[in-house]
Amino acid sequence: MIEATPIAVRACVFDAYGTLFDFASAAAGCRMVPADKAAALTALWRDKQLQYTWLRGLQDRHADFWQVTGDALDFALDTLALAGPGLRDELMSLYRTLKCFPEVPHVLTRLKEDGYVTAILSNGSREMLADAVAGSDLASVLDHVLSVEEVGVFKPHPSVYRLAVERLGVAADAIAFQSSNAWDAHAASAFGMRVVWCNRYGQRRERLPGAPDREIRSLAELPALLTFVRS
Ligand code: LAC
Repeated sequence: MIEATPIAVRACVFDAYGTLFDFASAAAGCRMVPADKAAALTALWRDKQLQYTWLRGLQDRHADFWQVTGDALDFALDTLALAGPGLRDELMSLYRTLKCFPEVPHVLTRLKEDGYVTAILSNGSREMLADAVAGSDLASVLDHVLSVEEVGVFKPHPSVYRLAVERLGVAADAIAFQSSNAWDAHAASAFGMRVVWCNRYGQRRERLPGAPDREIRSLAELPALLTFVRS
């Protein structure tokens, strides 16, 4: 097998939900959700959440990701006829401290040791991201936690990817961006970043502008794909 040339970058920027943090852990960890409904709730909640971000972007009617996540949950509970005292509050509280994927702490530690600038770039509000990072004890291995709230529009608007370039002070083509969302991976690539698509969910490739440089199944594969460049 021919080894691909490592991607030469200075910074590693990560999507949060679905990439570092496992959004399925909320419904799966909620005792009030019947086991046979957890997967459907996770999928519908996530799909609606993303749709609402895109629709609000098109309407120029931004609301933060906490609001959108709650609205999407209400739609999903209604659709699946799930109800019960405290159910919504418990699911929202579980979403606030989603578990990170098992390989994440080790991979971020390794990237820091190798000299990379590390960051999250996410739709999440500042408060949501702060709770997720604290819940998985990742603060010491992340240099920046960037929320789209700084630009007031959701991904995949180019101003979101520009925010990382500006705040890190690193050129787009010296940033490796990792996302499990194919659409996010394509958008970052179209913007000019180097992109590793962490295809955790075995999705088909998107027919959108941009093209991820690499595709992996777990972030554990990431450090071997990269090489550090100082500038
Ligand atoms: C995020 C969503 C898109 O963290 O996963 O930005």
